[in-house]
Amino acid sequence: MKIMNVVGARPNFMKVAPIIEEIKKYPMELTQILVHTGQHYDREMSDTFFEDLNLPEPEYYLGVGSGSHAKQTAQIMVKFEDVLMREQPDVVILVGDVNSTLACSIVAAKIEYPNGNETKGYNQRRPLIAHVEAGLRSFDRGMSEEINRIVTDSLSDFLFTTSLDANENLIKEGVNPEKIFFVGNVMIDTLLKYRDKAKESFILGNLGLGAKGEDGSWKLWKTYAVLTLHRPSNVDCKASLSEILEALTEVGKCIPIIFPVHPRTGKRIEAFGFEDYIKKISKHNPIWSNGVIHCIDPLSYIDFLQLVVHSKLVFTDSGGVQEETTVLGIPCITLRENTERPVTIWEGTNILAGTKKDNIVNASFDVLLGGERSNRIPKLWDGRAAQRIVNILRDYLRID
Ligand code: UD1
Repeated sequence: MKIMNVVGARPNFMKVAPIIEEIKKYPMELTQILVHTGQHYDREMSDTFFEDLNLPEPEYYLGVGSGSHAKQTAQIMVKFEDVLMREQPDVVILVGDVNSTLACSIVAAKIEYPNGNETKGYNQRRPLIAHVEAGLRSFDRGMSEEINRIVTDSLSDFLFTTSLDANENLIKEGVNPEKIFFVGNVMIDTLLKYRDKAKESFILGNLGLGAKGEDGSWKLWKTYAVLTLHRPSNVDCKASLSEILEALTEVGKCIPIIFPVHPRTGKRIEAFGFEDYIKKISKHNPIWSNGVIHCIDPLSYIDFLQLVVHSKLVFTDSGGVQEETTVLGIPCITLRENTERPVTIWEGTNILAGTKKDNIVNASFDVLLGGERSNRIPKLWDGRAAQRIVNILRDYLRID
């Protein structure tokens, strides 16, 4: 059976890595082909993840790069169609909610192979579509990711979910329950696998935050917080970005904030003239700093994990970081008005603070002053999600 995995943007790489590893355990039964759309292309946004996560070289690199939503999605579709026709995989696995996920789901749903795969016991003129991380909903259609999730889910044959609220969302939308499989969280498979390896990272030393003791463990000199910020609603609007940075500058007077800057956000900081607000120091670490928010280049997977593991608090508008901090037990203040991952609030360390200055500052001080919050690991976030996914696909497609 031929399985095609698709990656495109930074949060895809850690989701696909454990699936590929699991597929490789069945060399006589399964063949794996990796397609990289090239949605993210900077070394820090792509190559370093391939190195850290031991991902194989993609068989196909589509090189689409950046563009408007329509242009990017359309270019992926045109190029992916050629790849699908050439390889005719039995299954296409799509992860997450980025434009690459959406584009490839539409192509896979509408393609017609010249001949069905009757020899394999089922007659498919197109690949089966498996969506990993199905059913998450922010109920905010202003977010392009929400559109990507809804469309991909509606076209998928296997909907692999990370939490039971996602199953409920899908059932409410009329998805056949037989297609829905609660399997756990592949991003957490990767986190648990690399947690120990992260101790080898020198990021704490490089940033002057700590040093390695004689026993090999890292000792902190400073407590610090970590910030990630890249949602268009937060960074593309000058007033929103300014309000968030003002709030964090206030918090930063109590705890320094390390900010690996996403390229989208870096471009906006420059375009809005905020280098004056967060002074630019050098091209390296930190690139900009106003004395309390220290901007650095985007980090590799291992360096980012090590930075978060040792932090006191994380600020983010990313989905994946809300999940990772929940498993690591690090308080997370989410700089958004909604989340498609409510389980991280019900069970984990996530606090939905919104984007208003007072709310961000109040939530931060509540955490820094030791406010109580839940800290449970959601069900099936146990490092075995990829194993469940591959077993379900093998069972379904098994030729006896
Ligand atoms: C994309 C995903 C988002 C995900 C995020 C993770 C969509 C619609 N959005 O957002 O869900 O959370 O990735 O990072 O798919 N750029 C570079 N170098 C790169 C990639 C991007 O400089 O390697 C710059 C370009 O100016 C580009 C901008 O960042 O226009 C935005 O990139 P894009 O892939 O369109 O969206 P993200 O904001 O990265």
